[in-house]
Amino acid sequence: MSKTQSLKFAHHPNPAPVPADKRAALLANPGFGRVFSDHMVTIRYSDADGWHDARVEPRGPISMDPAAAVLHYAQEIFEGLKAYKTADGATLFRPRENARRFQQSAERLAMPVLPEELFLEAVDRLVSIDRAWIPDGDGSLYIRPFMFANEIFLGVKPSSNYLFAVIASSVGSYFKSAADAVSVWVSQEYTRAAPGGTGAAKCGGNYAASLLAQAEATRHGCDQVVFLDAVERKWIEELGGMNVFFVFNDGSLSTPPLGGTILPGVTRSSLITLARDKGIAVREERYSYDQWRADAGSGRLREAFACGTAAVVTPIGTVRAPEGEFKIGNGGSGARTEELKSALVDIQRCRAPDPHHWIHKVF
Ligand code: COI
Repeated sequence: MSKTQSLKFAHHPNPAPVPADKRAALLANPGFGRVFSDHMVTIRYSDADGWHDARVEPRGPISMDPAAAVLHYAQEIFEGLKAYKTADGATLFRPRENARRFQQSAERLAMPVLPEELFLEAVDRLVSIDRAWIPDGDGSLYIRPFMFANEIFLGVKPSSNYLFAVIASSVGSYFKSAADAVSVWVSQEYTRAAPGGTGAAKCGGNYAASLLAQAEATRHGCDQVVFLDAVERKWIEELGGMNVFFVFNDGSLSTPPLGGTILPGVTRSSLITLARDKGIAVREERYSYDQWRADAGSGRLREAFACGTAAVVTPIGTVRAPEGEFKIGNGGSGARTEELKSALVDIQRCRAPDPHHWIHKVF
């Protein structure tokens, strides 16, 4: 098969899907990342044949050789996006942005670049066949495309074989806590990404490296870890799995600038656009932890929130570090945070006009 030819997907519907009553029980309170749909999409890649063997098939275990390259050198990337239920079907939010970021992640990890159209077709096909797994109300179907190296070889080099797959998980809120704001722990020992590293790529290794710091955050009673930059250990970068925004007493926003060490979040970029549409000033500029604490104390900083596909927009109420803790505003959510969250979610759920054409319908 030619490396550029479009692919025909073979369809193998699940002969034993989860019965409707059991599915309904699972969707009643899905939590995050534990309830999975009936199907998956897979596409294989080899240097010799390019992208080939595209399938929609029953979700199930993937058989791997113990010498598969990913198990040793972690050549793996992933994406996260959500499908929402609408009156006449399902929608996705800016899936092309995920397709493009997946390509950038692939380049950084020396992996083959999956054509955008193939990424979109794979996601569409899965959402279409598993649309019954989209929960009602505030829930959504979290789509997880990923790709890993599966050449059977222990030498350190880019693999010559890969598996791209898409799975789907019915989800509610990412955070378990019922509080209206989360608490964060500022890690002073561990960093997430260094200049020249893989911080801007969505690769599993970045998340593996964050887990010890996240465990430290949990030990200190916090929901998420905040990473500072790896060079000066001073500038706020991002949380364990989401970007961060600050809201000031003049109504303006700031968020750490992209520069290779921060994940270029789709939610982050959407919020910047929506805020500017409303005439709100947004600065992409460095903000230090010391300044954050001082501004929270003086009242210059009014609100802070985490954002991402999984987290959507989640207010940050408490910041904890070895030297003590401080509250942001009244320790709960704030008006600006709620305004931006509604603006975003109303578009995602087709309750508001979509001036930037971000909604992608799935048929
Ligand atoms: C997302 O927001 O989609 C993420 O990837 C965060 C986390 C679940 C890994």
